[in-house]
Amino acid sequence: MRVIVQPDGDSIASLVAESIVRLVNDKPNAVLGFATGSSPLGIYRELIKAYQEGKVSFKDAWGFQLDEYVGLPADHPELYRNVIRTVIESHVDFSEGRVHAPNGTADDLQAAGPAYDTMIEDAGGVDFQILGIGTDGHIAFNEPGSSFSQGTHVETLTPQTREDNARFFDGDISRVPTHTLTQGLGTIMKAKKLVLVAEGEGKAEAIAQLIEGPVSAHWPATIMQHHADATVLIDEAAASKLE
Ligand code: F6R
Repeated sequence: MRVIVQPDGDSIASLVAESIVRLVNDKPNAVLGFATGSSPLGIYRELIKAYQEGKVSFKDAWGFQLDEYVGLPADHPELYRNVIRTVIESHVDFSEGRVHAPNGTADDLQAAGPAYDTMIEDAGGVDFQILGIGTDGHIAFNEPGSSFSQGTHVETLTPQTREDNARFFDGDISRVPTHTLTQGLGTIMKAKKLVLVAEGEGKAEAIAQLIEGPVSAHWPATIMQHHADATVLIDEAAASKLE
């Protein structure tokens, strides 16, 4: 696993966006894996800028989101499908029907998981997966104790994650959904390249476990140590508990 420490989030975002622009220019039908939350927002801003400057086009590319809340109404601004529309998709030129998220309102959520994995495979598999990390070491919404081999599935959010995400729901934890439909660690590990970004002291313990801890389901992100092409980009604060 490559670890790159940068002075701030802006430099992390530029580095990651440059590498995505290179990929899409080399492979116009590249399959991009989108994370939500605050960590990747700078990357999306840089990608929009590159598109507006004519440096890249996404018209033949694909996007697959990592996860989706279960049970939020279709017009809810925090529905991850809507978030990705707002923060990147509506500002660039993805072709209609090329960006997808797990269907958190499916009647049969158990079937929706494998169906999503099949869609990813049919598009050729994820070339470049952007990841954030939870304070409890989750990636996508694979909480501590998750299986390393699972595909897309329903996951119960821990109280810690719901508390962390309450900031997106006016600070009211009772409004944060209790379940998500999330790519499993098995799905994520199939991506050809993993790039995890994290900033701030609050992520320092999860980052120390990710980079220096044993591979353990207690810290789900540690499975990335077994990926052949995984990079972690962090600022000084997130790196502060590394030895
Ligand atoms: C969201 C996701 C989560 C977040 C993680 C960190 O799609 O996959 O794993 O990346 O919860 O969230 P932020 O970036 O908001 O700290």
